[in-house]
Amino acid sequence: MAATLPKIPVIHAPQTAEVLARTPPLDAAARERLKARIKRLLREQDAVLIAHYYVDRDIQALAEETGGYVSDSLDMARFGHTHPATTLIVAGVRFMGETAKILNPEKRVLMPSLDAECSLDLSCPAEQFIPFADQHPDRVVVVYSNTSAAVKARADYVVTSSIAVKLVEHLKRQGKKILWAPDKHLGDYIRNATGADMVLWPGSCVVHDAFKADGLAALKREHPDAAVLVHPESPAGVIALADVVGSTTQLIEAARRLPQQKLIVATDNGIFYKMQQAAPGKIFLEAPTAGRGATCQSCAHCPWMAMDNLQAVAHVLETGANEILVDEAVRVRALVATQRMLDFAAGLKHSTAGDA
Ligand code: 13P
Ligand code: SF4
Repeated sequence: MAATLPKIPVIHAPQTAEVLARTPPLDAAARERLKARIKRLLREQDAVLIAHYYVDRDIQALAEETGGYVSDSLDMARFGHTHPATTLIVAGVRFMGETAKILNPEKRVLMPSLDAECSLDLSCPAEQFIPFADQHPDRVVVVYSNTSAAVKARADYVVTSSIAVKLVEHLKRQGKKILWAPDKHLGDYIRNATGADMVLWPGSCVVHDAFKADGLAALKREHPDAAVLVHPESPAGVIALADVVGSTTQLIEAARRLPQQKLIVATDNGIFYKMQQAAPGKIFLEAPTAGRGATCQSCAHCPWMAMDNLQAVAHVLETGANEILVDEAVRVRALVATQRMLDFAAGLKHSTAGDA
């Protein structure tokens, strides 16, 4: 019999608007000067900038201009692992920097902000997760990449949303039962897609959990010609209204591929930078979130991703601040499940857009 689900910590996420207001905006000339300074520092420090789709578009553009990379969490890990630079500047949230360090202990990994957390990671503290996993010795432990190194160290597999369904299908074919953490919506989606026997940790993403099915249904009625693209961290009612459910890269690919000129998107709006590149001329609409207007919490933009800005990138390059360090014993154990993720992904044929 499955053990009772743990009572997870209440997450007090900062308001995205407040985070953004902490750093005064730069005028065009100051932004260009700062970008030039960062380019020089990247060269001097033998550093490469690796950015997630959800961060500030100036950082994404700079990563592209300097031979760095903009992608999802799986590809960020792959890129950092194979790039020859000795310093990785990981512009994203903490688990992405930790994954880079787990894979590259010899490299210096710096992040623009050490406060850039993730509600999924925070909802799954290792002190609670490890005893819970110990209560399920008959289950393969599969954790989402959005977790701490200590949680990854207790896992059999790490996955991202781009390969989660495929990995669980693979495990199910081997007759395995699964303990999944920490995102309950993604876990529920995978369980429905695969029919696998899964126990789900009850975590959620503060950004995706805020998308509302009734608001989305109303927006669809207003724009019957639009296709709906949904990240599977969203609630089941929102997923049910989707034309395409997929990881961030899969949603960008769908935006390019679909015939519709108008797309309603239920994920962090930082993704619009790459979606607009992939599908120039198309119209992108944000899926509605809870409490739109004055009371909206994240407004479809992750408050922790919003902590990364150009000023912070320059600061860490200049000072060496915000280095990510992972306890070596934890790192070695976390590497096993993380390397399995990379090996499994490498073994898959080019992933099909629309899968998650
Ligand atoms: P990806 O793995 O698709 O990059 O998503 C990470 C994330 O944090 C989604 O909210
Ligand atoms: Fe975590 Fe959600 Fe932010 Fe992604 S968008 S980093 S899952 S809080």
